[in-house]
Amino acid sequence: MSDYLHGYVHTEYERLLHQARFLEQEVYPFIDLKHCNHLLEMGCGVGAQTRILLERFPQLHITAIDRSAEELEVASQQLPGDLQHRVRFVQADLLHFQAEEKADAAFCCWMLEHASNPEAILQNIRRSLSADGQIYLTEVENNSLEVRPHSSALDAYWEAYNRLQLHLKGWPFIGQNLEHHLQSAGFEHIHVLPHPMHYSHHNTERLKDFCAYWWRLIDSASEPLLRGGYISEEQHRLSREHLLNLHQHPQASFRYTFVQAKALAGNKP
Ligand SMILES: C[S@@+](CC[C@H](N)C(=O)[O-])C[C@H]1O[C@@H](n2cnc3c(N)ncnc32)[C@H](O)[C@@H]1O
Repeated sequence: MSDYLHGYVHTEYERLLHQARFLEQEVYPFIDLKHCNHLLEMGCGVGAQTRILLERFPQLHITAIDRSAEELEVASQQLPGDLQHRVRFVQADLLHFQAEEKADAAFCCWMLEHASNPEAILQNIRRSLSADGQIYLTEVENNSLEVRPHSSALDAYWEAYNRLQLHLKGWPFIGQNLEHHLQSAGFEHIHVLPHPMHYSHHNTERLKDFCAYWWRLIDSASEPLLRGGYISEEQHRLSREHLLNLHQHPQASFRYTFVQAKALAGNKP
């Protein structure tokens, strides 16, 4: 079994590209890189956020780091030619990566949840930032999911999904620990902002799209979940049906809160 929950496969690459655009309006209001010239992107994957960052902040130059050579290859292929010269893709483990020159900021989205030692990664990246360099984190908080009406198959799926991630030494509940991790890694002026999302039958279209997105997210782990006996074929089928039909229910609602944090590198040794 790969130690990466979603797997390094083509469908996952497409899912990441879709996800970044789908959540762009939720994630980016918090991210202010207007005054940043050199950004370190931690765990860039297939460059889904890289492209958004380059489009939103035209002065930005990015060192985009990931451990997966295959994803970096997809990242450089999917980036339009006119943006290519502003990015350098680097294959490295963030636990050991060192920038040649100190950067102004670091950006990390949906990555620390997959790192076995998030605090050590934050500590290491801090060394590559200038003292007034800022870090932006966006992470999951999987305790926050509430889907109504309730489905015992979906509950079982979600519990298994989180259990598998824990088994793979990931952190499905890392959102609530971001402040602590940043503090322990030596960051200062830490600001944490939970970002609640709530969709209901009042906005059926968004609810429908969100549930379809969510199914795609959790289905990306279905292969190891089924193979490992974490869930049954029946639970998989019922969870899919429940999510994809939720918007038709008159009392339907979907709630999830992800967590964002920003902090300064400071000059502690
Ligand atoms: C869910 S993907 C997110 C990719 C991108 N940030 C996005 O939002 O589309 C997580 C990425 O983190 C990378 N990753 C996880 N641990 C890493 C580490 N220790 N060093 C470098 N990359 C890592 C994985 O290879 C994967 O590409």
